[in-house]
Amino acid sequence: QIESHLATRMLDWYDQHRRSLPWRAEPGIRPDPYHVWLSEIMLQQTTVATVRDYYRKFLSLWPDVREMAAAPLDDILAAWAGLGYYARARNLHKCAQTVANEHSGRFPETEAELIKLPGIGRYTAAAVASIAFEEPATVVDGNIERVMARLFACHAEIPKEREQHYQLAKSCTPELRPGDYAQSLMDLGATVCTPRSPKCTLCPALDLCLGRMEAESLPRKAPKKN
Ligand code: ADE
Repeated sequence: QIESHLATRMLDWYDQHRRSLPWRAEPGIRPDPYHVWLSEIMLQQTTVATVRDYYRKFLSLWPDVREMAAAPLDDILAAWAGLGYYARARNLHKCAQTVANEHSGRFPETEAELIKLPGIGRYTAAAVASIAFEEPATVVDGNIERVMARLFACHAEIPKEREQHYQLAKSCTPELRPGDYAQSLMDLGATVCTPRSPKCTLCPALDLCLGRMEAESLPRKAPKKN
């Protein structure tokens, strides 16, 4: 039921409520993999509001992956100042150099190849593969994990049983428009299926949602150890 209906609901909702963000191409147009990669690296641990301006600055300084690869690391680190987690900036540079030197300046087009690149983990590989290349890869970030926990009333604990949420997400991933679908879940998690006070009345999947009566207590999190 959820598995077979979620994608249609989400894609219809996305067509109406899609947030306009600088790294998103116009509807129906495939975005540049360099743009998708850069934005997804920045959006890990940093909010959309903060990333907007940094993303624009990086693109104006380094319009493509070869130019970024040719830049001195210190310039990248200087432009990154304020975003935090500087390992991300070092890996950004390393990844740009790998793509420029070992892949002729073109990003590999599959999740399996992307995950081999510096700084690209399971999340980023799936996000770039689905958004830039339309591969039906399963994208799971914190927002999507929460949406899955609620939809399926999944009581598995995060982080120990994280794999269960991944498998639930995988069971719903559509073959068509996987990139729009992934981003629809991100938008739903950011604006409707929020950690506190979820706006269930606005949710396109409310009737499918097994966890709607206990939404705020999902996902279950292991108590923090001191
Ligand atoms: N957070 C991470 N990636 C995102 C994306 N592509 N759109 C919106 N929020 C995001």
